[in-house]
Amino acid sequence: MSETDRLAARARGAEGSEIRVMFERARAYDGDLARLEIGEPDFDTPGYVVDAAAEGARGGATHYTSTYGTTPLREGIADRIERENGVPVDADGVLVTAGGIEAITVGLLSVAGPGDEVVVLTPGFANYTAQVELTGAEPVQVSLPPETGFDLDPDLVAEHVTDDTAAVVLCRPTNPTGRVYDEADVRAVARVAADHDAYVLADEVYERLTYEGTRRSVAAIADDPEWVLSVNSFSKGHAMTGWRVGWLAGPSDVIDAAQVIRQTTTLCPSSVSQEAALAALEGPQEPFEEMVAAYEDRRDTVLERVREWPEITCADPEGAFYAFLDVRAFDEPAMDLALRLLSDYGVSTTPGTAFGPGGEGHLRISYATDEAVLETGLDRLERAIRDEFE
Ligand SMILES: Cc1ncc(COP(=O)(O)O)c(C=O)c1O
Repeated sequence: MSETDRLAARARGAEGSEIRVMFERARAYDGDLARLEIGEPDFDTPGYVVDAAAEGARGGATHYTSTYGTTPLREGIADRIERENGVPVDADGVLVTAGGIEAITVGLLSVAGPGDEVVVLTPGFANYTAQVELTGAEPVQVSLPPETGFDLDPDLVAEHVTDDTAAVVLCRPTNPTGRVYDEADVRAVARVAADHDAYVLADEVYERLTYEGTRRSVAAIADDPEWVLSVNSFSKGHAMTGWRVGWLAGPSDVIDAAQVIRQTTTLCPSSVSQEAALAALEGPQEPFEEMVAAYEDRRDTVLERVREWPEITCADPEGAFYAFLDVRAFDEPAMDLALRLLSDYGVSTTPGTAFGPGGEGHLRISYATDEAVLETGLDRLERAIRDEFE
């Protein structure tokens, strides 16, 4: 038996996501590269948040916290959900997690297992499929149609929801398209799920980065909020990816179960990071609002440029910091095209296939980068388009 044979079956085929592949290729690139593949804020965490963490640590916040997270942070998050989303939640309904990722993992592990199915949409965040597989449940991928800009299609989702369905994962605003699914469609999907005693796992880590008005959460929209598990995070909206703080909110029996599971993984979120998150929640919001305004300007820059390229289309992103370009005119697998753009044109993007089979023929570009890099990257994309079609 080789050492590889000794790996557990779930680890043996583990490839990691294509996002990480592009990230590593970009990092190893020797030269001037316009990086449009990075999916995290280019802004640093505001200074007052960093100060609060340092003060907290000096004041003794260096120990394990409750496995649920600290009481002030749980209360602060519950207040925010009630204030901003109009969903009544108390602190018992909140588990503080190590980012949205841990919230998704422990949420899914709490409600899905062998014999269950979990519906995930593609193109969508690739981790969902891997996380469902980790639970032993079967991921059921539903491809949304590119013709509608990947609108949520409740009838299509309903065709895949059965009595074995434990959960339907909805991401809103959506990575990779930046779309914010229509409220009526969200309500319809939530109804289908609840009718089958299935949860909607609502990944709302981009909730604060919404450019077209409404920010109502899935739990606020659904007729049966008791069947909604809400995932959120400080990472994107508060420029705090490295601090690893997020939350899972939902019925207290699920929160209690998730807390038991997390006792075996991370035990509790970082104490210092929880101090930082509390400060971000309670402190001045202007720095975060300025970030959102900057993303919105950059989104407009991207859309103006894309509209000048007749061969390439892109459904208008209403949130997050991504644009998902339809590059089917290149007639080339997305991964090959992304690698070619990187090596021949000096611009890195993420192939749509990193988001499941539904993303073929597309490239994701991120505008979480400063205007100058963004403009350079767009110039290079334009050169590639000219070379191909002129
Ligand atoms: C859709 C989506 N969900 C969750 C996450 C995880 O974010 P974090 O764990 O930093 O909160 C990401 C990160 O890129 C994401 O794009």
